Amino acid sequence: MTSRLLFVALLIPAIGVAALASAGRDGIVSALSAQAKQDNSKFTSFSAEAGKKFWFTAHVGGKSDTPSCVTCHTKDARTMGQTRAGKAIDPMAVSANPNRFTDPEKVAKWFGRNCNTVLGRECTAEEKGNVITYLMSQ
Ligand code: HEC
Repeated sequence: MTSRLLFVALLIPAIGVAALASAGRDGIVSALSAQAKQDNSKFTSFSAEAGKKFWFTAHVGGKSDTPSCVTCHTKDARTMGQTRAGKAIDPMAVSANPNRFTDPEKVAKWFGRNCNTVLGRECTAEEKGNVITYLMSQ
């Protein structure tokens, strides 16, 4: 009896945290979707395929030693990445790291920093939404 109560007591917060994470991510994606629509009236929905292409492409305009997102985040988003200085980066795939894209401030900070490093400009809302959609599918 006591152990069953304990089990329930432990289970409720665990479900709560997972639900909160996915609610956070959904909120971020719908804010990006609203922005993408505002930027382009023809925008309909994010594409994992386009996000994958963007993620792997060697872009021009940024720093020459970091041409693409996979330079640091690696080609398999389910594995650990590495900064130029060799510092480990946790996996980007949501399946491997359920906390990804759940904190709006963190998402904004790192898209800002990394898009400028790789492309020499901000990413558009559509590019950001496509990338998140791709990494949610991984
Ligand atoms: C120079 C190495 C480097 C490159 C290149 C890079 N990133 Fe990152 N990225 C990082 C580091 C370091 C973090 C922060 C550590 C962490 O979140 O695990 C991070 C975190 C992020 C996050 C935050 C994710 C979250 O948990 O909310 C996003 C979004 C992101 N990167 C997107 C991109 C995109 C898009 C590109 C390509 C345009 C890119 N990164 C290229 C190093 C890099």
